[in-house]
Amino acid sequence: MNEFGENVFVLEHPLITHKISILRDKSTGTNEFRQLVEEIAMLMGFVALSDLPMKTVEVETPIERAETRVIAGRKLAIVPILRAGLGMVSGLTALVPSAKIGHIGMYRNEETHQPVEYFCKLPNPIEERTIVVCDPMLATGGSGVDAISQIKSHGGKKIKFVCIIAAPEGVRRLHAAHPDVQIYVGNLDRCLNENAYICPGLGDAGDRIFGTK
Ligand code: PRP
Ligand code: URA
Repeated sequence: MNEFGENVFVLEHPLITHKISILRDKSTGTNEFRQLVEEIAMLMGFVALSDLPMKTVEVETPIERAETRVIAGRKLAIVPILRAGLGMVSGLTALVPSAKIGHIGMYRNEETHQPVEYFCKLPNPIEERTIVVCDPMLATGGSGVDAISQIKSHGGKKIKFVCIIAAPEGVRRLHAAHPDVQIYVGNLDRCLNENAYICPGLGDAGDRIFGTK
């Protein structure tokens, strides 16, 4: 357990932290940045999905008939928060190719830092799926809180939130608003600055993934 309590997992794994360090470097270009986001998402997904429910099935091996286990239940839903969350989708679907993908469009108003929602399309039946919401950055927590509220209003129940870098303020806010949601953080950073950017962070994740600005 950490300072945030149950359901918050700060991974700080050497492989993840090493790759995040390269992301942080402002001289890392778009191509490498995108590749690293994908790799980190895959490593984080591997951990975040370690409690997926399993069921027993029988298979015929070349040697004998065997009881073995496969993932049970409805397919997973991966829900990136646009835009930056899109960068994590390929890494997560590499782990679970059969996953369905929803999208939530959200941007932060540059002055108020409040999230503005502009799109929501989720796979049905959402209530039966384990849902992995992904976004590289959890800053004030506003976007994550609203995205999860939206998913819950459509019936989503079993929700995990995977972010590469988080500020403590964002983790506290998201955990307080949605204590049932498991939050997976790659690296926990120091604080937010006056523009609500994460320090030291990596800058604007969307712009760095898509090469905008
Ligand atoms: C970024 C990021 C998160 C949000 C985090 O998106 O990808 O969605 O900010 O900030 P918060 O925790 O304070 O809400 P942004 O608004 O820059 O949109 P973009 O991904 O389209 O660039
Ligand atoms: N969104 C980003 O992309 N980066 C931050 O540091 C904060 C919000």
